[in-house]
Amino acid sequence: ALVSSLELLRKAQKEKYAVGAFNAENMEMVQAIVEAAVEMRAPVIIQTTPSTVAYASLAMFRAMVFAAANEADVPIALHLDHGDSLELCREAVGAKYTSVMYDGSKLSFEENINITKNVADFCRASAIQIEAELGTVGGKEDSHEVKSEDALYTNPMQAKEFAERTGVDSLAIAIGTAHGFYKGEPKLDFERLEEIHKVVSVPLVLHGASGVPDEAVKKSIGFGICKVNFATELRVAFTKGVNAILLNDNKVYDPKKYNKQGKEEVKKLVVNKIKLCGSNNKY
Ligand code: 13P
Ligand code: ZN
Ligand code: NA
Repeated sequence: ALVSSLELLRKAQKEKYAVGAFNAENMEMVQAIVEAAVEMRAPVIIQTTPSTVAYASLAMFRAMVFAAANEADVPIALHLDHGDSLELCREAVGAKYTSVMYDGSKLSFEENINITKNVADFCRASAIQIEAELGTVGGKEDSHEVKSEDALYTNPMQAKEFAERTGVDSLAIAIGTAHGFYKGEPKLDFERLEEIHKVVSVPLVLHGASGVPDEAVKKSIGFGICKVNFATELRVAFTKGVNAILLNDNKVYDPKKYNKQGKEEVKKLVVNKIKLCGSNNKY
């Protein structure tokens, strides 16, 4: 069933695992994520970025996720990922998404607090959960590109002040991950994560998990991460499945045939990521 994102994160925080948050780009990816969740008895968050909702629409994704979640006997949440304006967050709430992220990480500290607080206030009025971000996750997600050199890690005391002044329900932090893959091996700043975890009480979110070694993801969950975002690896898995069919037989013309293989690859990946998050057998 489709449920509130907050109840998923609160249980994860209490029981010290993370909820996998998976970016979907089409119907088959939605189905793959839900099927993996049902098989693993895991909660999952399905999320869409602004470019994804521009590709289809909030209403289209809400309808697909609602239909898939209705047939599932595990909790599924639907989240706007990297909402880049108050307006889009409002639209997502209007479209009955179960949570939104407002990403003001490019703004100054005070500006980020101002807009995040406005989004948080109207989310609260609609009983919708809000995630915000402080510090900068490197790499590229949609049109928002951050060069790794200027990726700013989250300052623990600022994180505490930010969470308190905005009233957000969860906080995305920057500890050395980047969106997309990595050139070398990413170095995560676990000491910083520990410091943040000590002073911030809301669930913490790790972005940019594609390409992060499993051990590092696990360690970050041990240090208080309650939601882990995976996007690039799902896109790669879907395309790998489609290619496996089309490159092997150029006479295939039925989308069901190659999309099905894309879906299977995504499902396998999501099963593994759920195990990595420790969220299997929670429902
Ligand atoms: P990756 O593409 O590195 O998995 O990042 C996902 C993410 O943070 C989505 O918000
Ligand atoms: Zn992200
Ligand atoms: Na990444």
